[in-house]
This record gives sequence, C-alpha cells and structure tokens, in this order.
Amino acid sequence: MQENATLPQTGAAEAHIPAGVYAETVTEVQHYTDRLFRFRITRPAAFRFRSGEFVMIGLPNAERPVYRAYSIASPSWDEEIEFFSIKVPNGPLTEHLQKIRPGDTVLMRKKPTGTLVNDALLPGKRVYMFSTGTGIAPFASLIRDPETYEKFGEVILTHTCREVAELEYGLELVRKLMEDELVGELARAQLRHYPTVTREPYPVMGRITDLMASGKLFADLGVPPICPEDDRGMICGSMAMLRDTKEALEDFGLVEGSNAQPGSFVVERAFVD
Ligand code: A2P
Repeated sequence: MQENATLPQTGAAEAHIPAGVYAETVTEVQHYTDRLFRFRITRPAAFRFRSGEFVMIGLPNAERPVYRAYSIASPSWDEEIEFFSIKVPNGPLTEHLQKIRPGDTVLMRKKPTGTLVNDALLPGKRVYMFSTGTGIAPFASLIRDPETYEKFGEVILTHTCREVAELEYGLELVRKLMEDELVGELARAQLRHYPTVTREPYPVMGRITDLMASGKLFADLGVPPICPEDDRGMICGSMAMLRDTKEALEDFGLVEGSNAQPGSFVVERAFVD
C-alpha cells in the first residue's frame, strides 16, 4: 500500500499516450441499436479539419493502441468532435470503444485527411451524398457546414440501412439541423433527406443503386436524372456499395475527382468493419 501512495498521480489512461496524438475526453455517448452508437469528445484548440475528413482514433488501453479511421461527423466550426460508429463483434477497437462513457479518454491522431470534401468537387447545381450505414458520418459534417450550401444549390442526402432503427441517427441529425441557429435556414431551403430501408417495411424501400436505376429516386425528388453538367456526387459506404454506386454515377457521365483534381464525384469507404 505504501508503494501505491508514491505512484505519480496520472490516471491509467495517461500512461499510454504516444506522441503525435491528442488525448481527449468523452463528453456524450448515445446508443441507437445494438450495432450503432454516436459519441462526442472535446476538441483540441489547435485541431483543424475540413468538413467531411476522417481521422485515426484509438483507446489508451494498451501499450500499442489499435487505431481505426473514423469520419468526423461534426462540422469544422463545432466546439466538440462527433463520431458515429458501428459495434463490430470482437472488433479490436470497437469491442472496447462501444463501452466508453463520458469522462473517459479517446486518442485521436493529429492529422485529418480525406476526399469527401467540398474542395474535391467542381461547383454544381445539386450535390448528392450517397450513404449506407455509418457512411452517413462525413455527410453529417458536410450538411452542417454553411460552405456546402454556398457551393451547391441543392443538397440531397440519401441514407440506406438494413433496418428502420438504423436510420435514427440521420433522422435525428436532420431534425435538429432544421432548427439550428447557424445553418437551419440554409438547410430548410436547400437540404433534402432521402432515407431508405432494405430489409424491413418502410415508405421507401430498396438499395440506392436500384432506386437510381429504376428512376424512382428522381421521380420521388422531382428532379431530372443525374447529368454531368448539373450534378455532383459523394459516396460513403461498404466496398460493394461504393463500387456499384460509382459505376452508376459513371454511367450518368460523372467523373471521379480528388483534392488534386476536382471532379464531379468523390468516393470514400466507411472504414470500420
Ligand atoms: P441489403 O440489405 O440489400 O444488403 P451493410 O450493413 O451490409 O453495409 O448494408 C447497409 C445497406 O447498404 C443495406 O441496406 C444494404 O442493402 C445496402 N447495400 C449493400 N450492398 C450494396 C451495394 N452493393 N449497393 C448498394 N447498396 C448496398
């Protein structure tokens, strides 16, 4: 017991903080289903990112923490950083991450990056943000950024999940956004949310690729089919979803862009699996 009294007064959490990493405090955790949760952490004063970028995060629970790429779901002006996560059974990071509580420490590498940013797209009349599952996260950031509404006249967020309960994060996000003091007016005028479900009854059912192929997406929105002159796309989901949605956009004549060479659509996988 005598030894304990002389230990340095740092918590276990601080014992494993490597260089080049921020150690931030969890401020909020919300579970949506047994597969999905959202959490917020404090934002280091020096941390800058562009809405839509991702960052590597980990936990201070090992000598060499496991890091995974997470899209930042909060906009670049926000005082905190938000993430939307899947819970992977036996996932090296998420099996622990899903148990975090306010006050716990999360590690975040200092350098954000990514292609789902407004800079990687040419200006356009309309931007489609195609997401499945946790792939909505970068768009949660972008639809809360006034810059998105300056660059595009209309912002269409599609979110497809297997089950109705998995849409809740997006529904709540859009509901709150419409009332937001800073961006609410822009969102009410320019944002449209198009949620769809594939494995349970819901007003709109089906994969987004099928809804584009049948023309139902465009008919429901009352917009012409996608064309390279007016439309821009951003895609985030599983590897298979990215491949098929990218192919659909290329069939409409859109060309993939990057930070170095802006184009008419950009792609990024929803990382954790
Ligand atoms: P489905 O239920 O028909 O597989 P996941 O959790 O597997 O990432 O899936 C999330 C959502 O993405 C599901 O609604 C799923 O539909 C849909 N999805 C899966 N693969 C594709 C794909 N290749 N193209 C479009 N949507 C897809």
